[in-house]
Amino acid sequence: MNKRLSRMDSNIGAEFRSQLEYYKRTGKQIIALNLGEPDFQTPEHICQAAIGAIENGFTKYTPIEGIYELREAICTKLREENHMEYTPDDIIVCTGAKQALANALCAICNEADEVLIPTPCWGSYPEMVKLVQATPVFVDTLENGSSVLTLDKIERRITPKTKAILLTNPHNPTGTVYSKELLQAIGNLANEGDFYIVADEIYEYLTYEGDFVSVAALGNAVKARTVTVNGLSKSFAMTGWRVGYAAGPKPVIDIMRLIQSYTTSNANSISQKAAVAALSGPREPIQTMVEEFDRRRRFIVERLKGIKGLSYISPQGAFYIMVNVAGYFGKSYKDYFIGDSTDFVMYILHETSVLLTPGVVFQAPAYVRIAYANSMTNLETAMDRLETALYLLK
Ligand SMILES: Cc1ncc(COP(=O)(O)O)c(C=O)c1O
Repeated sequence: MNKRLSRMDSNIGAEFRSQLEYYKRTGKQIIALNLGEPDFQTPEHICQAAIGAIENGFTKYTPIEGIYELREAICTKLREENHMEYTPDDIIVCTGAKQALANALCAICNEADEVLIPTPCWGSYPEMVKLVQATPVFVDTLENGSSVLTLDKIERRITPKTKAILLTNPHNPTGTVYSKELLQAIGNLANEGDFYIVADEIYEYLTYEGDFVSVAALGNAVKARTVTVNGLSKSFAMTGWRVGYAAGPKPVIDIMRLIQSYTTSNANSISQKAAVAALSGPREPIQTMVEEFDRRRRFIVERLKGIKGLSYISPQGAFYIMVNVAGYFGKSYKDYFIGDSTDFVMYILHETSVLLTPGVVFQAPAYVRIAYANSMTNLETAMDRLETALYLLK
C-alpha cells in the first residue's frame, strides 16, 4: 500500500454515514444530525435545466475546466456578489468543492510544506494535506468556551515552511463568521509571509449574523495569493450533483486543470447545466432555506441553554453547532460509560436513535457537532430525547 496512506486517519464521519445507510436498510428510524446536507430539495428550475440538458443530449465530455457558459456565470456571481473580478480563464469547475480543495492543495504544496488549519476544523482538511505529503499545522482557536481566531494565534504557528492557510468562512464546524478586519489582517500576514490563502466559502449564503466578506475581495495583493473555493452543494441544496469551483491566480488554476485532466476530467455535464441555472437564476428559493436554517439555529440554541452540563459555541453561520459535552465525561447509565465524546455519541445513538458527530473528527475532543439541517419536527424530537438521555447519566 502507498506509504502516504498510513498517515491518514480513518474517516469516522464517513463510517457513521455508512452506518446510517445500514440502519435505513434495516428500517430503523434514525434522526441524523450528523449530516452536513440541506434537507431541502434542489429548486425546481435547477432540476428542469438538468432535464433539458439530458433531452438535448448534453451528455458528453465537456472541457476539463468546465463549460464556458458556467465559468462566465461564476465570474458574474463573483463580480456582483463578492466584488471580485475574474475572467473565465481564472476559473475551474470541479466535482464538488471537495475536489477543488484537493486539486488546489495538490497544485501548491510540496513535500514537507506546512499548511495552517484553524481548529476545530472540517475533518477532510488535515487528511487532504497529508495526502499531498504536506504537514497540517493546527491553530487552536478554542478559548473559554468560544472559538476565537486571532492574528497572534496564527503568527505563532508560522514557520519558513508555511505554504498556505485554509480558511473556512462561515466555518464548519463552529459556525463562526470572520470579520472583514480579521480577514484583512490575515491577508496582510500572508503577503508578508509569502503564503497562499485557500478560502473555502461554501457556506457563504448561510450567514445569519455579521457580514460575509470574501478574502480575495480585500485588495489585489491578497487576491493574487488566494484560491477561492465555493460550490453549490450547501447553498442551492445540490449535494448530490457534485459541482464546485475555484477562482484564483491563473498559474495555480492551470495546474489544477492539469491535475484534473489526468484524474477525473470534467465535472458532470448535466450538473454543469444545472449549475448555470442555479447561479444565474432567482435567489428567492435560497433565501427561504436560509431563513428556515436561521429559525432552527435559534431553536437549538434556546434548547441547549436549558440543558444542564452542556455549553456551546455560539454560531453565526453554516448549519452546525459545537456542543461541549465534557461535563458528562466520567458519567454512566446501565452499561454505558462516557469516557469521551465518541462514547457520548454512541450512547445518544443507542439510547435515542439520534446521530451526532464526535469532536475528534474536528480536532475538538471535548465537543460533539449538531447539524441542524433537519426538519423542525425532527429537531424538536431529537432535543427532547437528548435531554431525557442526559438526565439518566449519573
Ligand atoms: C467546509 C467544507 N468545505 C467543502 C465541503 C464539500 O462540499 P462539496 O459537496 O461541494 O464537495 C464541505 C462539505 O461538508 C464542507 O463542510
